[in-house]
Amino acid sequence: MEQVLKLRNLKVIFPSHGGIIRAVEGVDLDIHQGESVALVGESGCGKSVTSQSVMRLIESPPAITRLDTLEFNGKDIKNYTHKQMQDIRGKEMSMIFQDAMTSLNPVMTCGKQIDEMYIRHKGVSKKEAREYTIEALKLVGMPEPRSRAKNFPHELSGGMRQRVLLAMAFACLPKLIIADEPTTALDVTIQAQVLNVLRNMQKKHDMSLLLITHDLSVVSNIADIVYVMYSGKIVEKASVEDIFHEPYHPYTRGLIASVPKLSDTEKEFSQIPGTVPHPMKKPNGCYFHPRCQHATKQCKKAMPPLISVGKNHEVRCHHPLKDMKKEGKA
Ligand SMILES: Nc1ncnc2c1ncn2[C@@H]1O[C@H](COP(=O)(O)OP(=O)(O)OP(=O)(O)O)[C@@H](O)[C@H]1O
Ligand SMILES: [Mg+2]
Repeated sequence: MEQVLKLRNLKVIFPSHGGIIRAVEGVDLDIHQGESVALVGESGCGKSVTSQSVMRLIESPPAITRLDTLEFNGKDIKNYTHKQMQDIRGKEMSMIFQDAMTSLNPVMTCGKQIDEMYIRHKGVSKKEAREYTIEALKLVGMPEPRSRAKNFPHELSGGMRQRVLLAMAFACLPKLIIADEPTTALDVTIQAQVLNVLRNMQKKHDMSLLLITHDLSVVSNIADIVYVMYSGKIVEKASVEDIFHEPYHPYTRGLIASVPKLSDTEKEFSQIPGTVPHPMKKPNGCYFHPRCQHATKQCKKAMPPLISVGKNHEVRCHHPLKDMKKEGKA
């Protein structure tokens, strides 16, 4: 499979008055053609900063961004200029944000905003662009696309606005789509419809998807590969099957256990004790140790490296589940 994205050792720091925030601490990410990769973790763990860094959208300064490798579609884009990045954004890689209301221009019709993608990246006339736009809106399941195209964002429902964003993101059939919590703001039924469109379009056109979410139930339906992030670091990476059937990191296990199940109705929801450390006050050793029931002296002292525990399965833990099983502790 052709590699679409190769990111190595991404570090992003935000200096502030109170100290420095290490938002991302040495993240590697690989995405191949047609693959759907999920990046999961609790709020503040660095998912958005990682994905925006891939599109070089983090303003540095004020942020300090360092990375060893950023290859996209066979090109080294690490040192691309602003103009070069603008040429590939929207055309070869595009992003869908959580909040369509702030991603769309409130004073321009939705149709015109999609038209611009075709005019800018395909060099077609305004009239031709509108025909492409209507087609794109049809593909993402927009009802009455011709008249909806004439609406302003505030005249559409949240689900319809998200479809407009999907139509824009897919307009130029990019190699990579990055969707950052694309459905969090929507009702559950609309969420499922929008995710289905996203998944179907991605599969049909053999595109790659980086899906950012804190919702593991979404992950199980969409992702091929899952990266679990905690406090700026990847703590586990595996195929979706392995993540759900053989999670090795106590944090991954905690996330899975906290997904509400139908059978849970009588019981209290399971949750991971404690909270994510403050980004300026990360603990010594493994960042997860204060919340981990298996933590040992070693966990309090040293940050565990990311180690391979199986085919395409990596975990950052001194005592991964495998060891626990052996010792009869899990
Ligand atoms: N522009 C910024 N200036 C300062 N700190 C920032 C900035 N952007 C992000 N951060 C900090 O970086 C860390 C990672 O943030 P990020 O937005 O990537 O988290 P996230 O995993 O996407 O969370 P969520 O699920 O809430 O969207 C957080 O501690 C956040 O406060
Ligand atoms: Mg985010």
